[in-house]
Amino acid sequence: MTQAQQVKPFDYIIFGATGDLTMRKLLPAFYYRLSAGQVPHNARIIGTARSPLERSVYQDRARDALKRFVQPHDFHEDLVEQFLNMIHYVSLDGSKAESNWGNLRSLLNESPQEQIRVFYFATAPNLYGAISENLHKEGLVTEESRVVLEKPIGIDLASADQINDEVGRFFKENNVFRIDHYLGKETVQDVIALRFANPALEAVWSAQYIQSVQITAAETVGVEGRAAYYDHSGALRDMVQNHLLQVLCLVAMEQPASLEADAVRDAKVKVLQSLRPMDEARLKNDTVRGQYTAGQSNGIAVPGYLQELGESSNTETYVALRAEIDNPRWNGVPFYIRTAKRLKQKVSEIVIRFKAPETSLFPQQPRSSLLVIRIQPDEGLSWSLETKNPLDDNFALQKATLDVNFSKAFDVRYPDAYERLLLDAVRGYPVLFIRRDEVEAAWRWVAPIMEAWANNEVPMTEYKAGSWGPKQAEEMLAARGDVWHEDME
Ligand code: BG6
Repeated sequence: MTQAQQVKPFDYIIFGATGDLTMRKLLPAFYYRLSAGQVPHNARIIGTARSPLERSVYQDRARDALKRFVQPHDFHEDLVEQFLNMIHYVSLDGSKAESNWGNLRSLLNESPQEQIRVFYFATAPNLYGAISENLHKEGLVTEESRVVLEKPIGIDLASADQINDEVGRFFKENNVFRIDHYLGKETVQDVIALRFANPALEAVWSAQYIQSVQITAAETVGVEGRAAYYDHSGALRDMVQNHLLQVLCLVAMEQPASLEADAVRDAKVKVLQSLRPMDEARLKNDTVRGQYTAGQSNGIAVPGYLQELGESSNTETYVALRAEIDNPRWNGVPFYIRTAKRLKQKVSEIVIRFKAPETSLFPQQPRSSLLVIRIQPDEGLSWSLETKNPLDDNFALQKATLDVNFSKAFDVRYPDAYERLLLDAVRGYPVLFIRRDEVEAAWRWVAPIMEAWANNEVPMTEYKAGSWGPKQAEEMLAARGDVWHEDME
């Protein structure tokens, strides 16, 4: 990260600037990039939200956010002061034409006309269209303007189309940056490097050698203060439609023609289009949804989802799916996807399970070799291989694991995904953002699942907080002779 180049001066205008995402992720990410020398001293971050706050009060909130979300050893008073000086605040309801647009305009007019402007929408997605229209009417969308759209883009295909159409009336597609922060994670990008810079690996990257792929994003947290959003979303919309399908695309795609944005996106969209649609039988056999009940999280007693919510709900906090990709490379290989709140451990990973050989050469059957790409925490790779047990004279086998922890091996801090993505939008570098047709293809694939679940065609299961999820998810794999990673030998 030390080689990061400074970007051009910019004005970053955040809509939804008092929200959790801004405090928890965006401001700390800017701070870290300032500390890495990537943010020029005359860049500005302009927070906007409806609350009538003085600039100094917003700066105090920003300081509190840094205190909470920046590592104590990275919190340096002089740098924090420099950062706070970059921060401005305009009280504004971006979705209303008659709000304080004059204040935002005056602030933006202090910068030269050619200054890069990034409008970051971290509000409810149904406001994206209105904010875009108001920005346009106020003449604030310049040649050098781009817009970043937080996920979720809509709640289904129709609403996503509507939002994309509305925003598209005022921003050209190549100035629209749809963020999926999983693509900003270094180890997710590593999938591209591992596959296409190592022919030995790519040579075995197919149904011929791979038995199954598991993509997991497990969290220990519950829905925290986000129940109002989460209960309308659920794990499928919150994590699978975007983050996990994006990871699946990188694991499964063919080599793109180049690392230009459109080439990579073309390769990803082909995977989404090749996902076998879920029919009635597969909805029942290959999808599991669940809600956590009271249990323990990191040793502390925690209530169940419905208790937290205080009412009944048909929203899942757990999803496990078996996806299949209908193309010659992947025919017959299950891609198991799962994500949930309140699981036993926080871990996001990709597990490639290679086929074990059918051989009678050894006294025991060799087991599958596993390649695990650890997205977080402890970004790294491990590869387990069968070796000879030195204490046995008859070629008994034992597993040996090659393991590398990237940040230790390379002695670098692995940046948060938002650090990369926020400045990629300034640089106008779209490869790690999502094109409209990808959003649409992903919604199309999850649509039958959403519908079947909404109609209760697949029962809601339960799992105890602090466990690895409902037993039905284990059974889904067992039906095909598979097990989840934590149960593999
Ligand atoms: C967000 C979801 O997109 O990703 C959250 O809305 C989830 O519910 C978060 O907690 C997980 O991100 P990460 O980077 O911690 O895996």
